[in-house]
Amino acid sequence: MSASTSVSASPERILVGVAGGIAAYKAAELVRRLRERGVQVRVVMTENAERFVAPLTFQALSGEPVRTSLWDSAAEAAMGHIELARWAQRIVIAPASADLIARLAQGQAGDLLTTLCLASEAPLFVAPAMNRVMWANAAVQANVATLATRGATLLGPDEGDQACGETGVGRMWEAGAIAEAVLEPRPDPAARAVLAGKRLLLTAGPTFEDLDPVRYLGNRSSGRMGYAIATQAQRLGMDVILVSGPVSLPAPSGVRRVSVRSAEDMREAVQAHVSGTDVFIATAAVADFRPSERSDSKIKKRGDGGLTLELVQNPDILAEVAARQDRPFVVGFAAETHDVERYARDKLERKRLDMIAANRVGDDGCGFDADCNALEVFWPEGRAPIGKASKTQVARELLGMIAERLGELRT
Ligand code: C5P
Repeated sequence: MSASTSVSASPERILVGVAGGIAAYKAAELVRRLRERGVQVRVVMTENAERFVAPLTFQALSGEPVRTSLWDSAAEAAMGHIELARWAQRIVIAPASADLIARLAQGQAGDLLTTLCLASEAPLFVAPAMNRVMWANAAVQANVATLATRGATLLGPDEGDQACGETGVGRMWEAGAIAEAVLEPRPDPAARAVLAGKRLLLTAGPTFEDLDPVRYLGNRSSGRMGYAIATQAQRLGMDVILVSGPVSLPAPSGVRRVSVRSAEDMREAVQAHVSGTDVFIATAAVADFRPSERSDSKIKKRGDGGLTLELVQNPDILAEVAARQDRPFVVGFAAETHDVERYARDKLERKRLDMIAANRVGDDGCGFDADCNALEVFWPEGRAPIGKASKTQVARELLGMIAERLGELRT
């Protein structure tokens, strides 16, 4: 399949399954977020979910009756559970308790929600929420792995404070992140087959090179392209570490972010995490130079005289990764104003990259500090364009190309 093959469009009918757990209150917010995007939502609750939130809450938010039982004679007179299973274009279970995950993994059908999941062909999204020790339990991990192997998309959990008073991995993703993930077109199955389980290390954003405690040399990179790649790679099942310069973006859910400031910090973080990496993507706009000295106190004006800064060159993080013996598949970015192919191919060879994604800066308001991008991608034996699109879509297509190249290199 071509990397640019489009996958199915956003769904219009989503079934939200709510299991018994304290995070059930966040499912109310999820229904709101989905409705705001114009999606029709129907809610099915387990018996235990009703102990945490009243069905009336979901009925008011979804504008639809809430189903809680397989034994509702009025609804089942018309085979309600099969009708619901067919109606759903996607099913998202939020929160998914350890118990519900176990029952889904075993293919049980003892209640309405598990029966629906068995009877539906809709893609299944699972947003676990439980105590950190339960989440780490081998039985839970085995059940989650079974669901993932069967094609379910796992959304989280996140790390952080838990309702039980502990801190660790087990918090349900925030409603907005779940809504966004469920509404996105399905990840390309061919890309997923190659990339799921692989580790991606990527750099993003600008670097700030300090002159003194209040001033620095920086650039306009927003980090959006790198963050979009990190998010989409996570959706494809990759284990993602994002080494990020100073940006105003939140860390994508399910992605480990390492925050850095200068090019030297970024290099250190990359060196610390590169071993065991399968793919390295350098989207960061790394400062080529840094001041040769950083003043500990604010540099003062000196009469009418100017100030001459002495700059020294920063290490090339990308070239260093490509020069390693245990090198991953290495992808660089190049922002050029002209002669895009010549400069990109030169960088591909000089830095010994496997692929380079070039964009012409200043074209159509795309690229730097913008929501959209357009790329020309080069590798030693070929090239392919990625037409102007949102950075999310461009990220998807680029990952598709990386998967294709990795697949070809393997065979
Ligand atoms: O040589 P140029 O700076 O145009 O190369 C751009 C590519 O190299 C980008 O992928 C960027 O992230 C990476 N780079 C780097 N370390 C530097 C300079 C650039 O990793 N010091």
